[in-house]
Amino acid sequence: MKAIVIRALGGPEVLGVEERPIPEPGAYQVLIRVAAASVNFADIKARQGRYHGAGQPPFIPGLDAVGIVERVGSHVTALSSGMRVAAFPSGGSYAEFVLADEKLAYPLPDAMSWETAAALPTVGLTAYTLLHDVAQLRPGETVLVHSAAGGVGTTAVQLARILGAGSVFGTVGSPAKASLVAGLGADGIVDYTQGAFYEQVNDWTEGRGVDVILDSVGGTVSEEGLACLAPFGRLVHFGQSSGSGGRITVSDLHASCRAVLGYSLGTARRTRPETLKPAAEAVMSLAAEGRLRMQVGRRYPLLQAREAQIWMESRQSTGKIVLIANETL
Ligand SMILES: NC(=O)c1ccc[n+]([C@@H]2O[C@H](COP(=O)([O-])OP(=O)(O)OC[C@H]3O[C@@H](n4cnc5c(N)ncnc54)[C@H](OP(=O)(O)O)[C@@H]3O)[C@@H](O)[C@H]2O)c1
Repeated sequence: MKAIVIRALGGPEVLGVEERPIPEPGAYQVLIRVAAASVNFADIKARQGRYHGAGQPPFIPGLDAVGIVERVGSHVTALSSGMRVAAFPSGGSYAEFVLADEKLAYPLPDAMSWETAAALPTVGLTAYTLLHDVAQLRPGETVLVHSAAGGVGTTAVQLARILGAGSVFGTVGSPAKASLVAGLGADGIVDYTQGAFYEQVNDWTEGRGVDVILDSVGGTVSEEGLACLAPFGRLVHFGQSSGSGGRITVSDLHASCRAVLGYSLGTARRTRPETLKPAAEAVMSLAAEGRLRMQVGRRYPLLQAREAQIWMESRQSTGKIVLIANETL
């Protein structure tokens, strides 16, 4: 099979194509013939040696893939060959075949296209879990989503609405991204590279601030979030696209009854895989019903994964980037 392999940490040039043997499933694993995988920002961090969940080279990058179960291990009970699944593979996903633990492979609704399914796993489960379980969004509450035009962002804006948010605001890194986010139902969008986003958010909320902030940027964006977080509000930190951590002062929290929370789907996958199923089922149903529309900005053949990562790293990409591994499935 063909696979994308990272032989050394570094820039996009370290992504190479290799011929590898098709792996054998272990007792609790399934072998999946991959239709498509997706590019996540974590793949770039992993390539640079800055992702907490990645190993050392050589490794196959990628967090999620969709395809058809080819073979199952001796102790697999919930899945059988021929089933269409979405999965979080154990050894990377940028490949024509991948292995996944049966607890991390989910049957797909029949009518769901490969493209929608490929866009869904990482960002769908993350956005849903952040809003539903970590922030525990309540009906009518206001939400601010940073990097709202990206993979997690476009999904979170829609899910916030679906889960009953009153108003949903988004930040974007360029004006060109604003119309996409407006089309997803956001009530206000601010280009946070051009000034103090928290002032705009405070204007929109008449000085009150928002109840929930989804922050995947870190650095000053995390710090400034507290300037527009309402009493009893929750700032959920789940990524560091900016490359730097922010500093939180605990005395900013207790009197206002506010909380700063953290979440990593990668950690949940590794340590509590069984907890992900309800979120997987929820987002798959929403997408199958057409209520959640996965935004696929670009598609690339698997073997052009390097170009796909360059596009994401350029900070111009919108929605999800999907890698097509097999056109004929
Ligand atoms: N904790 C978890 O479980 C989890 C799961 C999935 C994703 N994440 C995190 O969520 C974030 C979004 O992931 P994604 O895969 O959906 O990516 P994405 O949002 O589609 O793409 C990354 C976006 O980050 C923004 N960004 C901000 N500062 C940047 C910088 N210095 N360099 C490059 N991009 C920058 C850019 O959008 P703007 O310029 O418009 O802001 C860029 O388009 C990432 O931080 C990722 O690590 C966390």
